[in-house]
Amino acid sequence: MTIAETERAPKTPATPASTLTLRDDRTGKSYTLPIEDGTINASELHKIRATDDDPGLFTYDPGFTATAAVKSAITYIDGDQGILRYRGYPIEELAEASGFLEIASLLLEGELPTDQVLAEWRDEITHHTFIHENIKKFIDGFRHDAHPMGILMSTVAALSTFYPEAKQIGDADARRKQIVRLIAKMPTIAAFAYRHAIGLPYAYPDNDLGYTGNFLNMMWKTTELQYRPDPILERALEVLFILHADHEQNCSTSTVRVVGSSRSDPYSAVAAGIGALYGPLHGGANEQVLRMLEEIGSVDRVPQHIERVKKGELRLMGFGHRIYKSYDPRAKVIKRVADDVFRVTGRNPLLDIALELERIALEDEYFVSHKLYPNVDFYSGIIYQAMGFPTEMFPVLFAIGRTPGWLAQWEEGLLDPEQKIARPRQIYTGPALRHLE
Ligand code: ACO
Repeated sequence: MTIAETERAPKTPATPASTLTLRDDRTGKSYTLPIEDGTINASELHKIRATDDDPGLFTYDPGFTATAAVKSAITYIDGDQGILRYRGYPIEELAEASGFLEIASLLLEGELPTDQVLAEWRDEITHHTFIHENIKKFIDGFRHDAHPMGILMSTVAALSTFYPEAKQIGDADARRKQIVRLIAKMPTIAAFAYRHAIGLPYAYPDNDLGYTGNFLNMMWKTTELQYRPDPILERALEVLFILHADHEQNCSTSTVRVVGSSRSDPYSAVAAGIGALYGPLHGGANEQVLRMLEEIGSVDRVPQHIERVKKGELRLMGFGHRIYKSYDPRAKVIKRVADDVFRVTGRNPLLDIALELERIALEDEYFVSHKLYPNVDFYSGIIYQAMGFPTEMFPVLFAIGRTPGWLAQWEEGLLDPEQKIARPRQIYTGPALRHLE
């Protein structure tokens, strides 16, 4: 893109719909900026100067609400219409018909794998699920009450020291190897973190089970010779992993890309992403939803909770989204998954509180005018709880699902010739020059 400087706005721009004309009142000069893909190039704005020693215009955009920092071919979201697609495929279709590793391959490679490619991919992942015995010792070192998300984040970061070749981020084979390792080992570390907390011996991976079934095995296996996951619960969790697999430039994915932009290894980048996901406004929200529902305690106390939210005393966790200003399409699929799970586990009593919260909120002027709808976290926690997962594990489950998305975005960022090291600017508000007395 280039910026054309004109003394006044052109009377007939070449294509009126695809340029933006700005007048700088400091100088009286007008500038015509091309609009491409609904964006103007901020670096073109930066060329606008009032004087020769002016550093140029910057945009100020806390939280990046109006800034596109990357071009990506992975995930498409239309927040107004409630649309989510991976590589062009609607999430509803993928959640209905695909497996998690198939989706991981789609996100990473851009196309759904053929049967043969999928079989090889599954085999590769299955044969990388074990972790080095020293990693086990590393996990042993955490206090019994350490949050599993903290254990996951630290252990993933520690993996970087076990695979020093991961630093060769310019080598496609080395990249691929770390991607396989990360996707394969994430459930193992997650399950070990859980078992460490409750003092159970670690259950090793079972290569006869699928990705999700094996994770359930490592979580729940006790004395049986071979653990057999309930197929309905296994599929439900697989669908939840699929729904979480990518969500374009959210807080944790942007973190992974930012860390990756300095050419860090993928373990360090993903560990940073896990840190971002941990926060209660992001992946930690499902944990907070459960705590909120437990605190409300009964359906008749829902209206008073809603009133407190409207007074600004607290937020309705699991509601609202930076991008979705209508129903989160993932939340719709999750409601169906909940029905399947509750048929096996029995109904989670917190569901009635959640349904009542949703019913009142969707009719209430505050929530309607603020376009606040249930997001992916609103129902996922209730399902996880019914399946027996402790609340602390909820964000960990999110991290397992999100790993292929993080890695696809990390690699896309690395290979994008337009990307540079991420380095935003600031508006300095501190003291002007002063001297020691
Ligand atoms: N409850 C009550 N009010 C809310 C909520 C909520 N959950 N979310 C937003 N609002 C209100 C804000 O108070 C604000 O109102 P105002 O304009 O009258 O001051 C307005 O809606 C806009 O809110 P922002 O915080 O500016 O919106 P933003 O896009 O920055 O935040 C976020 C999005 C963080 C998800 C927010 O909706 C929230 O905190 N939700 C609860 C936490 C949650 O569920 N997070 C999970 C998100 S999904 C995910 O990460 C996987």
